[in-house]
Amino acid sequence: MSDAPSSIAPAEGRLGVLCVGLGAVTSTLIAGVELARRGMGEPIGSLTQMGTIRLGKRTEGRVPLLRDFVPLASLEDLVFGAWDPFPDDAYVSACRAGVLEVGRHLEPIADQLRAVRPMAAAFDPAYVKRLDGPNVKGRLHKRALLESIRADIQAFRDEHLVERMVMLWCASTEVFIEPGPAHADLDAFERAIDADDPQIAPSMLYAYAALQEGVPFANGAPNLTVDVPALRDYATEHGVPIAGKDFKTGQTLIKTVIAPMLKARMLGLSGWYSTNILGNRDGEVLDDPESFKTKEESKLGVLEHVLEPHRYPQLYGDVYHKVRINYYPPRGDNKEGWDNVDLFGWLGYPMQLKIDFLCRDSILAAPLALDLSLFLDLARRAGLGGIQEWLSFYFKSPQVAPGLYPEHDLFIQHIKLKNTLRWLMGEEQITHLGMDYYLEG
Ligand SMILES: NC(=O)c1ccc[n+]([C@@H]2O[C@H](COP(=O)([O-])OP(=O)(O)OC[C@H]3O[C@@H](n4cnc5c(N)ncnc54)[C@H](O)[C@@H]3O)[C@@H](O)[C@H]2O)c1
Repeated sequence: MSDAPSSIAPAEGRLGVLCVGLGAVTSTLIAGVELARRGMGEPIGSLTQMGTIRLGKRTEGRVPLLRDFVPLASLEDLVFGAWDPFPDDAYVSACRAGVLEVGRHLEPIADQLRAVRPMAAAFDPAYVKRLDGPNVKGRLHKRALLESIRADIQAFRDEHLVERMVMLWCASTEVFIEPGPAHADLDAFERAIDADDPQIAPSMLYAYAALQEGVPFANGAPNLTVDVPALRDYATEHGVPIAGKDFKTGQTLIKTVIAPMLKARMLGLSGWYSTNILGNRDGEVLDDPESFKTKEESKLGVLEHVLEPHRYPQLYGDVYHKVRINYYPPRGDNKEGWDNVDLFGWLGYPMQLKIDFLCRDSILAAPLALDLSLFLDLARRAGLGGIQEWLSFYFKSPQVAPGLYPEHDLFIQHIKLKNTLRWLMGEEQITHLGMDYYLEG
């Protein structure tokens, strides 16, 4: 096993959380953190705030809160910033998103929310076709956009006196881009920026700007963004943590629990039909076929990796997997994710499983954005650079080192995350073998 870092720098001073996109997820994150700080709401869904971790044997009774075990930044020390092509501040954005109740959860913190005003976005409607807003840097060359984002990061650092920063992509899903020659290495990437190559999406400029400024970057959407060799290598070489892609919230969260169960029991699968209706701005953007394709790729990969049809052709060799997302305005952020699973058991007898998840998109995503901010900052202070695979727990399409397949099973991801924290803190790994309880005299 590789050696754990000998020391982790303390979480002193303020941590700037820079969100690209000030929409439903970001405004719900900012409001939730402010409400939790004031004791006006519980940070439910956040492992860093509510989770515990077992240390040592089951007989030792050592189960601290995770945030007491690893040195994380506290909620009090978070300072938020954002970019968005729409000029709405976090209060207006939260009201517009309609996730949180205005009287109960937004009015009491209106001043704090109004103080978060979006910086002008590096935005190009060619990459997000259903949107166009006025708060943009303009039609600058990609090099100028990159420099402008870097200048924003530096200005935020100076203005808010933050010690450290992290950046999260919480902006709309961009159109589908395949990794190509422009992303192959840093030289090619740099040349493509200078040539205004369409293969360089705005999200890549934000990510590159963050890495150049030494700021860890996580991608909450399925866009390629930081998942290209040029940026991966840059992040590794410069010791800056990265993670992605696409927050694992609703249907895929369910899928990565149910599919491993089918496989663990060696039950077969003939079809899985997943459909969603949602009416938020994200749904509107995903109504565009090119943005939907990016999301579809992210959602479809999961079953293939969990079920490994090449190893179990009788069980998973012929699975019909379909994912639909339908924009349906009346539901707003309250998505309905409906799954129909056609499975088969002993001697091939068919069965069905129906799951109807009446969820709330941003209520599920905000705690993930919080945990990722705190864990990426921890990784940075621990000297871990490049892909943080231990954060796979949070993503639909986890980024992994070239040549590795991603681990999708939620519970394996959970064990991996906790074992990484134990490793970081010099505690023993928990393997769940447990023979010593029975064999030791
Ligand atoms: N909520 C969830 O459960 C969930 C799960 C997985 C992924 N996601 C992804 O997270 C992202 C955010 O979701 P949301 O519900 O907050 O969406 P949203 O539409 O409410 O907010 C996204 C914001 O990003 C802004 N934006 C678009 N391009 C930008 C750019 N280049 N620079 C700066 N801002 C830009 C838009 O104007 C918008 O305000 C989406 O890509 C979504 O697919 C959300």
